[in-house]
Amino acid sequence: MVFMLFFYYFCRAKKLPMKKIVLLLLTILLNVAFTIPAKPLQQTHNPTNEIDDPPSGKALVLKNACTLCHHPEKRIVGPSFNTIAVKYQGNSTKIFEFLEGKSNPIVEPEAYQYMEPVIKHLDKLTKREKEAIAKYISRFTISN
Ligand code: HEC
Repeated sequence: MVFMLFFYYFCRAKKLPMKKIVLLLLTILLNVAFTIPAKPLQQTHNPTNEIDDPPSGKALVLKNACTLCHHPEKRIVGPSFNTIAVKYQGNSTKIFEFLEGKSNPIVEPEAYQYMEPVIKHLDKLTKREKEAIAKYISRFTISN
C-alpha cells in the first residue's frame, strides 16, 4: 500500500503515465502467472491401486505366441502345458524361475534350443506378467 502511494506520487512528480505503467505491470504479471506450469495434483488417493487386478496369463500366452509351440494337452513343437505342469508338479514359482532364465529346463532339456530365444524375448515382460504366465501354465495339472 505504502509502495503504491509512493509509486503514485513518483509518477506524478515525473509526469509519467501511471495508468499505462500499471497496465503494463499487470500484463507482465499475468503472463508470468500463465507461463508457470500448474503444479500437478498430488495423488494421495488412487482407488485403482487398491484393486488387485493381475494380468491374464492366458491372454499373455496368446499375445506372446507361446501357443505356436505349446498346446494345452497335445505336443506340438514343444511339450504340452499339461506335460510341463505335471513335471513341475503345479509349482508356478519354479516355472516362473525358468521363464526368468534363472533355472535350467527340466521337461525336455535336449530341445531347449527352441525355447531359448523365447526366454530372451520374455525379458521384455514385467515380473508380474511372467508370474501370471507361470500360474496359467501351472494350473494344467488339474485338468488331467
Ligand atoms: C518356437 C517354439 C516355442 C515357443 C514359441 C515357445 N516355446 Fe516353450 N518350449 C519349446 C520347446 C521345444 C520346449 C522344450 C524344451 C525345454 O524343455 O526347454 C519348451 C519348453 C517350455 C517350458 C518347460 C521348460 C522346462 O523346464 O523344460 C515352459 C515353461 C515353456 N516352454 C513356456 C513357454 C512360454 C510361456 C512361451 C511363450 C512366451 C513359450 N514357451 C513359447 C518351444 C517353444
